Amino acid sequence: MKLVKSLVCMSVIGFSAGSIATTYAADGSALYASKGCPACHGADAKTPLTPAYPRLAGQSAGYLALQVMDIRDGKRTNGQSAMMKPMTTGLSDEDIKAIADWLSTLN
Ligand code: HEC
Repeated sequence: MKLVKSLVCMSVIGFSAGSIATTYAADGSALYASKGCPACHGADAKTPLTPAYPRLAGQSAGYLALQVMDIRDGKRTNGQSAMMKPMTTGLSDEDIKAIADWLSTLN
């Protein structure tokens, strides 16, 4: 709950700075870190734990968001998707879009 509050707080600061893009980037990066994504995909989203795990950095935001939603919603179950599902169940569509937007800005 503490985390949720601090994220909300960051959003407010972002909006008062007048930049939605900045808000998304900050939230996405914070969510990525706090939801355990780096454990498998790497802190920079391009040094995964094993070569079998996908690199996320720089992929299109729309594609990335859809993959996470599909894994969360049980629509994507191929390969090793099941091991990622537990990390996605608590994410809202907005959380996922924020993470995907941020990931797409990395190279
Ligand atoms: C336990 C390890 C693990 C964790 C933690 C994890 N993932 Fe994954 N993720 C995977 C694996 C493995 C795949 C590939 C599944 C497959 O075999 O198709 C994947 C696939 C993806 C894909 C699809 C990439 C593509 O190229 O199709 C996205 C996007 C993604 N993960 C984002 C995330 C985000 C965001 C988080 C944090 C909420 C996260 N992952 C946490 C293991 C993990």
